[in-house]
Amino acid sequence: MARLDRLLANLGYGSRREVTDLVGRSRVVLDGAVVKDSGARIAVTADLPQRMTVSGQPLDPPAPLTILMHKPLGVVCSHREPGRSVYELLPHRWRAREPALSSIGRLDKETSGLLLITDDGPFLHRVISPKSHVAKRYRATLDRPLAGTEAALFAAGTLVLESETEPLARAVLEPVGEREALLTITEGRYHQVRRMFAAVGNHVNALHRDRIGGLDLPDDMASGEWRPLTPAEQAAIFA
Ligand code: URA
Repeated sequence: MARLDRLLANLGYGSRREVTDLVGRSRVVLDGAVVKDSGARIAVTADLPQRMTVSGQPLDPPAPLTILMHKPLGVVCSHREPGRSVYELLPHRWRAREPALSSIGRLDKETSGLLLITDDGPFLHRVISPKSHVAKRYRATLDRPLAGTEAALFAAGTLVLESETEPLARAVLEPVGEREALLTITEGRYHQVRRMFAAVGNHVNALHRDRIGGLDLPDDMASGEWRPLTPAEQAAIFA
């Protein structure tokens, strides 16, 4: 159970005072009836957005919330980096949500594809924990033709990236063309895929993530689109 004013404030609808004002102006409706008391205690269930409206619009999904996004090129994953961020693709008030939304790992500004954004800390840690062995698959378009020796080198688990001392974990490379390959990695080191190809004398011209664990980026999801992750999709990540 949560107090209505706290629930709405945590979803970014305004300060507790502003939310109390919304309630006073009969803008909050639950199960067809105007809610009169901003201190009312509400059971926060997943179906609340189907039962509550705020100013005529369905309530935003309460926490825990995970978003599946097709990240476009040219946007950053960090609040701190300069430039337009993935958070700006979401409703403006979501920036005031508490707990805050953050991306599960990061994609470079110039990498597109499957990105998860969540306010669920334990879920985030489970996805990124090395213990979970959640693999991430990238489609890399290369500057030069593959030499044919990359797959064996990446699979050996001995490659040490420049300015590092710890070898990379084994990775799986599947060529899909002369200058195109799928690369599946289980770690998330800085610019890892680009640096792996740099280590074999190549250069990544385009990079796209199409899979996290057993979850594929849906084919029908256009660049920049997003929606809540379904429970089945959440389970698929660890399948
Ligand atoms: N590896 C990279 O080099 N960039 C990404 O965005 C993700 C993995």
